[in-house]
Amino acid sequence: MLVQNGWYHGACWQLRPCRRTSCQLFCFSKTEVQRTTSSAGVRGVPEKFFFSLAAPGGKKGIILMNIMQQDILQQLEQLQQDAQTALTQTTTTEAIREWYSEYLSRKGRLTGILRNLGNLSAEERPLVGKVANEVKAVLENALQEHQSAIARAELEAIRRTESVDITLPGRPQNLGKLHVTTRALRDIYAIFTAMGFQIYDSPEVDTDEYNFQLLNMPPGHPARDMWDTFYTTTPGLLLRTHTSPGQVHAMRQYAPEPIRVILPGKCYRYEAVDASHESMFYQVEGLAVGKHITFSDLKGVLINFANQMYGQGRKARFRKSYFPFTEPSVEMDIDCVLCGGKGCPVCKNTGWLEMLGAGMVQPRVLQNGGYDPTEFSGFAFGMGPDRIALQKYGIDDIRYFFTNDARLLERV
Ligand code: FA5
Repeated sequence: MLVQNGWYHGACWQLRPCRRTSCQLFCFSKTEVQRTTSSAGVRGVPEKFFFSLAAPGGKKGIILMNIMQQDILQQLEQLQQDAQTALTQTTTTEAIREWYSEYLSRKGRLTGILRNLGNLSAEERPLVGKVANEVKAVLENALQEHQSAIARAELEAIRRTESVDITLPGRPQNLGKLHVTTRALRDIYAIFTAMGFQIYDSPEVDTDEYNFQLLNMPPGHPARDMWDTFYTTTPGLLLRTHTSPGQVHAMRQYAPEPIRVILPGKCYRYEAVDASHESMFYQVEGLAVGKHITFSDLKGVLINFANQMYGQGRKARFRKSYFPFTEPSVEMDIDCVLCGGKGCPVCKNTGWLEMLGAGMVQPRVLQNGGYDPTEFSGFAFGMGPDRIALQKYGIDDIRYFFTNDARLLERV
């Protein structure tokens, strides 16, 4: 009988094809084999057993027992060698990760080999399992050592390439600056609060009643045309065209106490935009109500303001004017700092720039605010801080204020 390398299976000593699926060739009955020699085996296998086979017909064959076991052990030995060689060649953490995945991970080669343990007999399994555990432990130790060596090397490399030279000079920091209008507003607050005015906040979205009617401009009043605005979809609700409606809000809150307030904030107009007109701009309203307040008080306050804002000696002038909510009314101009009074686009070639409108509070408006006009009087003014900033910082076009060009801030 021709005997090939076959599967030794402890449980199958019959000379017949084995029914176990793991047995691919023949198994032999105990009496048919006879031990002839033994030799020291591969690691973990005490001996290789060679049996001569007294096969039917007198032919003798040699079968190598424990083929499966030996094969797995050889694979383990090979794996250990391969893994150790590969490990010495890894130089990065990433390469180590790949090495681990190839040899020791759940889908790695070691697990692949151990899957065949199920094909071994119950006696063989512990021995092979023990060897497998030894191989695993050896590889894990080698991995740990190599890993820390690589981590140290990587750290050292980073330290060498990315080290910070603390003697280098720092990069200059660009400091932010306040917008020119904000600067002007803060200057205005400082000057008026020093004169005893309080800052009062009033709504930017207001009603037609406050923006016009309570200021003596009933529907259809021609003065409304000067202050056309943007309307909301809610009837009667609009973006305020000036800070003057705040006068009535403040008066209604404090009447009949005397008041001295400034009311800063944004205003909106349906405007033909040019070098000195924007459709959104700032105003600061001023209001003083009390007994015996006269036009001289208004002039004194405004001249004091102009001197502090622009410096002593700047030319200012009052022109008669008309506002439905003040009587008498004036406008105050400052000589144009940009052209020195010669005329330019900002001052519309007049040499003067209008700073504010003002006047004595109209009696009907005082009444709307809750004051008895026979007892109380007051003055009011409304100035444009954007225009003040134009003059103060020598800027020739109000449209720069909203174009986000940071060079504007260099003027401050
Ligand atoms: C008024 O708005 C009045 N409410 C001012 C007032 C208040 C008068 C209290 C009497 C009593 P006038 O439309 O002129 O007025 O605007 C006042 C200031 O706001 C102007 O002098 C100007 O400095 C500024 N201003 C007006 N329109 C614009 C605009 N489109 N862009 C920039 N600033 C403007």
